[in-house]
Amino acid sequence: MKAVTIPEFGDAGVLRADTVPIPVPGPGQVAIDVAYAGANFAEVLYRRGVVDVPLPFVPGIEVAGYVRAVGEGVEDLWPGRPVAALTIVDSGGYAEVAVTAADLVAPLDGLDIGMGTAAALPSNSTTALLVLDRVARIAPGESVLVHAAAAGGVGSQLGQAARLLGAGRVVGTVGSAAKIDTAKGFGYDEVILRDRLADAGQFDIVVDMVGGPTRRASLDRLASMGRLVIMGNASGAEDVGVPANELWFTNKTVSGFNLAAFAAAHPDETGRALRRAVAAAAKGELRVQVEALPLERVAEAHRRIEAGATTGKLVLDVAAL
Ligand SMILES: NC(=O)c1ccc[n+]([C@@H]2O[C@H](COP(=O)([O-])OP(=O)(O)OC[C@H]3O[C@@H](n4cnc5c(N)ncnc54)[C@H](OP(=O)(O)O)[C@@H]3O)[C@@H](O)[C@H]2O)c1
Repeated sequence: MKAVTIPEFGDAGVLRADTVPIPVPGPGQVAIDVAYAGANFAEVLYRRGVVDVPLPFVPGIEVAGYVRAVGEGVEDLWPGRPVAALTIVDSGGYAEVAVTAADLVAPLDGLDIGMGTAAALPSNSTTALLVLDRVARIAPGESVLVHAAAAGGVGSQLGQAARLLGAGRVVGTVGSAAKIDTAKGFGYDEVILRDRLADAGQFDIVVDMVGGPTRRASLDRLASMGRLVIMGNASGAEDVGVPANELWFTNKTVSGFNLAAFAAAHPDETGRALRRAVAAAAKGELRVQVEALPLERVAEAHRRIEAGATTGKLVLDVAAL
């Protein structure tokens, strides 16, 4: 089958259209004929070698398509069934066929949701629900601050998920003024420039996927009993230490979340969150703004993601190969 591989770590130019063996589902797994694969910051990190993966590597943490075959013990999925799925544990989504655990699949039949949109949901919408519900344990009326609120990825989902889960004030930050209006369309009450964070007030929950100075500034924005969730380092900055004694003196909590590790350790719960996200999207409660590119333009997708230039979610049209 055709796939895009990472033959060596490097810039977007290393991505290569390749022919690789068709993967076969093992017990509890499902093979999917991929229609669209989501393009994510995570795959940029794999390509750069920030996450050490075995080479050559087929990236791709999420897909939408049709079940091709099921492994032993899989009962509720069958060939031809339309699905969205997380392929995040072993990757492999940038390909004509991807294999994943049946637990990490959401059926799409009966839902008013297109394949391109469905491919944009598994990583970011599931993450948004898990981060706010499971990690931050959001309570009704709590205030939430989210960084990179206009990016088409996880920032576009966290504000809407906060609203869905009963949040009070929901504020987003963006890196440039040009992104303010886009972020407002993703469920934020207010959108501010990240360098004005000091004036933003205090929050029960802050979600940081930018890192560097933003991480320290995020801690300063926490109210008493507030929770900071660290879930990324899009700025590529050096790691920022957590001042443990300060947490003790100020009644603040810092948590981390990583969907790949969570899905590997808690596939049942991840699958439930995925199906909840897909159902919410079908009802219009989680909106994604999707731009499709043919898979052969994957390098362009990566370059736009690493330039911080996306305001919609990029998905790769695999059928157009
Ligand atoms: N932990 C998890 O499970 C999980 C799940 C999903 C995503 N993530 C993380 O969340 C972050 C965003 O991922 P995404 O897929 O949502 O990507 P995305 O939609 O492309 O968002 C990236 C945004 O980060 C901001 N940013 C700040 N500094 C940047 C820099 N130096 N280079 C590029 N972008 C920069 C930009 O927004 P501004 O212009 O507003 O600054 C940019 O638009 C990544 O760090 C990713 O690893 C983590």
